[in-house]
Amino acid sequence: MSANSIEKLFLEELKDLYSSEQQLTKALPKLSKMATSTQLQSALEHHLRETEGHVQRLEQVFKAVGEKPSSKTCEGMKGILEEGENSVKGAEEGNIRDLAIAAGGNRVEHYEMAAYGTVRAYAEHLGNQQVAQLLEQTLQEEKAADRKLTECAEQLQTRLSRAA
Ligand SMILES: [Fe+2]
Repeated sequence: MSANSIEKLFLEELKDLYSSEQQLTKALPKLSKMATSTQLQSALEHHLRETEGHVQRLEQVFKAVGEKPSSKTCEGMKGILEEGENSVKGAEEGNIRDLAIAAGGNRVEHYEMAAYGTVRAYAEHLGNQQVAQLLEQTLQEEKAADRKLTECAEQLQTRLSRAA
């Protein structure tokens, strides 16, 4: 069945995001375990708690539009996570691996930011301000997580240039 309305596209995007966030709740603890920088670990753990909140917020959104929460495997997120995991495993433990983790995290956040920007705009188009507001909150948290990961990467690079 092809989506022939913004409502349907919106629902497809929600299912995709629901899958993305669920995949992330499994990936973040693994990444945190592989990190050595305490700053990076705490950023990942903080974002894990936020991500659990994003799952719940999406459930609220499904409910608000009269749908049961359901997911459709987000192949994009799956690919980003697989690629990230390979890059992290291939990097030397310590600062270099931490940099690879932060880089993978930045990719994840940008992917999510794109998706949340879209669904928030659709919700606004559909005149559902309450839902748009919920999605905007998550979007802001993804942006903050992205900035935090960038700060971690900058600190790691400073540390590496001092050591050189
Ligand atoms: Fe999220």
